[in-house]
Amino acid sequence: MPDGFYETSRALSEYLLFHYGKPDEMLPWDFGQTSALDYPVRCVKECVDTGRIRDDARALDLGCAVGRSTFELARHCTEIIGIDLSESFIHTANQLQKDGQLPYQFAVEGELGQAAVAEVPDGIDRTRVRFEQGDATFLRDGLGLFDVVLMANLLDRLPCPAKCLEQLPGLVATDGQLVIATPCTWLEEYTPKANWLGGSEALGQARTLDTLREILAPDFTLDAEWDLPFLIREHARKYQWSVAQATRWIRLAPTG
Ligand SMILES: C[S@@+](CC[C@H](N)C(=O)[O-])C[C@H]1O[C@@H](n2cnc3c(N)ncnc32)[C@H](O)[C@@H]1O
Repeated sequence: MPDGFYETSRALSEYLLFHYGKPDEMLPWDFGQTSALDYPVRCVKECVDTGRIRDDARALDLGCAVGRSTFELARHCTEIIGIDLSESFIHTANQLQKDGQLPYQFAVEGELGQAAVAEVPDGIDRTRVRFEQGDATFLRDGLGLFDVVLMANLLDRLPCPAKCLEQLPGLVATDGQLVIATPCTWLEEYTPKANWLGGSEALGQARTLDTLREILAPDFTLDAEWDLPFLIREHARKYQWSVAQATRWIRLAPTG
């Protein structure tokens, strides 16, 4: 990653709050974007079709960060692997897997912070979950097939998102589901313009979803689409409000 942002203590604190923060910790106001809270939970709750999941289902959370969606997938699947490139995030996710909670601080103003505890909700079987450091573009051999693959806010942080997508037919089981959510924030710091999936002059009017369709169409059918707001708190008076485009794709039976 360009400037190592996802290894910094600031990123760790922001993502612990984003994934595990309580509503009054995220928004200490009686107004604000409450519908954008709990994004890592909503990516699973709203986008995964639980009716399609078989009893002994396996799930993969690519770009899992500090793991909230990975744990949420354990409500529906018996084995879940979370993979992220950040050593710091995976170390933290592993601590949460082991202990179920972790004290941390989030920013209030300047150097002032507020103490908080990140907690995996009761009722989630943490033994179903494991985390490993890895590159979503060059996944290791032997991961096997998954009934659910989630990629939340990952694509536009990869140097070559198409290369990551090309691995998916080999990872998603027939009739399995692939959930991709992305705010389509294409930035040259993360992705050379030639590799953007949408929004570059070279692609004309093509948007990210058009390119996703083109890449995934031979192996997946588009099943559902949502606009999912999310909120990342930088400090008490500064937030990033974004709207991810979320899509669910169903793996077709391989031909030939
Ligand atoms: C914008 S964050 C999204 C995290 C999480 N899915 C969420 O929705 O909160 C992007 C994540 O992708 C991870 N990441 C960046 N490049 C990666 C790569 N090549 N392979 C795996 N993870 C990567 C970062 O470390 C970070 O955790």
